[in-house]
Amino acid sequence: MSRRMMLAGNWKMNKTISEAINLAVRLKYSCNSVNDRDIVLCPPYTSLKPVAETVKDSSIEVGAQNMHHQLSGPYTGEVSPEMITDAGADWVIIGHSERRQHFSEDNQLLHEKLATAAREEIKVIFCVGETEQQRDEGKVAEVLTSQLKETLSGLDHPDFVELVIAYEPVWAIGTGNTATPEQANQAHQLLRQVLADIFTAEIAGQIRILYGGSVKPHNAAQLLGQSDIDGALVGGASLAADDFTAIVKFDTEENISIVDF
Ligand code: PGA
Repeated sequence: MSRRMMLAGNWKMNKTISEAINLAVRLKYSCNSVNDRDIVLCPPYTSLKPVAETVKDSSIEVGAQNMHHQLSGPYTGEVSPEMITDAGADWVIIGHSERRQHFSEDNQLLHEKLATAAREEIKVIFCVGETEQQRDEGKVAEVLTSQLKETLSGLDHPDFVELVIAYEPVWAIGTGNTATPEQANQAHQLLRQVLADIFTAEIAGQIRILYGGSVKPHNAAQLLGQSDIDGALVGGASLAADDFTAIVKFDTEENISIVDF
């Protein structure tokens, strides 16, 4: 089974509106020949609409980095699902480790957010990943399994317009310590097995699993050449047009197995 490669840029809390437009314009031109891979840009809320307008006549899609699980109400400072889609977002990132860590988002809340995204027909990039301590303690399988089971159980896969999983080991995010291609692929295979338990093996075979954590132009081809790695969620390197373009256009000629499952 072939899964289409996806490259998503998570700009985090970076870029003013004019900087965001500038980056989007550059990417629109540098990536305009790419038609066999999906590209998603996730700017901060304030730049969603300007970036969406900038890329609207290209194949690049736009995502928000978060959203509230309620549709409206007295939640000062929060942004609703309708607000992000109205601003032009097709996608939303849910459960990024920085949200889990700094904003106390737990599996129960993430389940609510996933359910809302499914209902509101917003495509989802759902992040999971273990901390360094959990890896040292040999708990990778346990952590990844509970992160998927406690959030996705009770939801049907067909409810989602699209569900993409991002495996982001916390110790690799923003640190320059990338997981080895083998470590990442092993985690992806485990995640796919858990997805098969939650849904079906057929559905699990269709779900794209991205790797995230210090993906750079120099390591992209090796990581993305692995059998179960279907793309990347890129933080730091997505802030520079040249770097993100190099990752989007990574060369997998030596690793053509990415299209086989
Ligand atoms: P990084 O971030 O590429 O800067 O490690 C990845 C992410 O947090 O999505």
